[in-house]
Amino acid sequence: EKGNIKISMAVIRRLPKYRRYLEELLDKGIDRISSRELSKIIGFTASQIRQDLNNFGGFGQQGYGYNVAALYEEIGKILGLDNRYSTIIVGAGNLGQAIANYTNFEKSGFIPKAMFDINPRLIGLRIRDIEVMDSDKMEEYIKENNIDIGIICTNKERAQDVADQLIRSNIKGIWNFAPTDLDIPENVMTENVHLSESLYTLSFLLKHNSLE
Ligand code: NAI
Repeated sequence: EKGNIKISMAVIRRLPKYRRYLEELLDKGIDRISSRELSKIIGFTASQIRQDLNNFGGFGQQGYGYNVAALYEEIGKILGLDNRYSTIIVGAGNLGQAIANYTNFEKSGFIPKAMFDINPRLIGLRIRDIEVMDSDKMEEYIKENNIDIGIICTNKERAQDVADQLIRSNIKGIWNFAPTDLDIPENVMTENVHLSESLYTLSFLLKHNSLE
């Protein structure tokens, strides 16, 4: 179901972090927490937390704080993690295989159905039970198997071609790991993961910290 909730992108980007901390609290058997205590562990101010969480219903109660399990579940729902998504990985090289080998995504509902590559030496290979198929068959496969998400793990020179194929097949979302900006219509949701940008930010921090 598509919610009509209007939440700013900045809040959305904080939700996975809230969820991760709440999960840790649940694991520790903590069933309620105040915005002040949450602020101490998560690093956002208590007023920021109250503001963020007010976006989707009055969860906190004066003098009680937040019910950890309820909040965890609600944030999961808002993130759509109560859904299951069928995914394919395009590009079965180093990164594609690493993602296929990572089982935690499917525990959160992202089910890898197949991988695609143009390299004949990779076609037929299986990573766990995920088969690498010929890229020529990708568009048909997406339509026949109602694939929701395409994960782009090709070299950057081929990423736009792959994105175009995914778009033609009516994919709903693209998770792009290729270090390039893709041209994608507005109705196809896209998230880019540019690991090197994060690494270069670390480099900046190292450099400027050492200057002090
Ligand atoms: P890789 O060269 O090992 O794998 C790329 C794969 O994509 C190859 O198997 C190639 O045959 C396939 N491919 C090329 N064009 C294709 C197409 N049109 N359709 C289907 N498959 C196609 O490269 P690697 O290391 O896996 O990196 C993949 C992408 O992820 C690159 O854009 C890289 O910059 C990015 N990346 C990789 C990281 C890593 O840790 N390996 C980290 C961060 C980013």
